[in-house]
Amino acid sequence: MDEVVIITGAGTRVGLHCALRLKQQGYRVLAHYHSERPELEQLQHQGIPCLQADLACPEGIEQLAEELRQRCHSVRALVHNASAFETTPDDPAEASALFERFYRIHMLAPYRLNRALAEALNRSQALHSDIVHITDIFADNPNPAFDIYCASKAGLANLSLSFAKQLAPKVKVNAIAPGPIRFKEWHSEAVKQQIIGQTLLRSEGGEEAIYLALQALLDNPYTTGSTIKVDGGRSIAHL
Ligand SMILES: NC(=O)c1ccc[n+]([C@@H]2O[C@H](COP(=O)([O-])OP(=O)(O)OC[C@H]3O[C@@H](n4cnc5c(N)ncnc54)[C@H](OP(=O)(O)O)[C@@H]3O)[C@@H](O)[C@H]2O)c1
Repeated sequence: MDEVVIITGAGTRVGLHCALRLKQQGYRVLAHYHSERPELEQLQHQGIPCLQADLACPEGIEQLAEELRQRCHSVRALVHNASAFETTPDDPAEASALFERFYRIHMLAPYRLNRALAEALNRSQALHSDIVHITDIFADNPNPAFDIYCASKAGLANLSLSFAKQLAPKVKVNAIAPGPIRFKEWHSEAVKQQIIGQTLLRSEGGEEAIYLALQALLDNPYTTGSTIKVDGGRSIAHL
């Protein structure tokens, strides 16, 4: 396959939006997804190939890494968007299981894919290729109710720095740290209003705000090892 941009977790929400916008910008996009969803038709309609994998299990990570390595001779960018977001359960055994799951999705999968695709990123025809890790403003200032989620995103932020050092000078490696971009369906109206009230810009960001940060990173030839916060100012306002 010719030079591609790969994005994980592209079956819905931010990942779906970014995959469609990248395609609209003329990139050849390869999308990873987890669950079968009606939204996948939007990707198929645009001719975007989709690969399924469960990144919470080692076999799923290995299968995706190997499939991408074999399929992609040259990679323009690799965007790690796949993520899960849940409060930490009180039960210790359940918390341990969640720890394993989040560690695999947020750290092991990006690590394994970065290693598997390093050569293909080095073969990019562009001056630089890119890895973009989507983290969270909670990586720097954790919410204790989500401590495992926050710790695994902090691990991803740290890996982003290691890969920036390891893969220079060809590959730029950066992170995007979102704040409240798109509430989950389970967020109550009261919680939404409370969180919006904690931003300086007084709104939910929306998927396009993440796409614009991603595009800015792909376009910038002199940025690596950095993090763009896309949080409406929440991290400096009330956290
Ligand atoms: N939305 C926000 O306000 C916000 C705030 C802070 C940070 N972020 C970060 O921004 C990124 C996009 O946010 P989002 O809200 O669009 O994310 P999301 O809906 O929570 O999840 C993104 C994708 O990850 C996939 N995923 C979940 N479990 C997976 C697994 N076991 N294996 C493979 N893929 C899996 C999901 O697929 P399925 O649904 O099919 O499982 C989904 O398509 C994420 O990295 C998120 O952590 C978002």
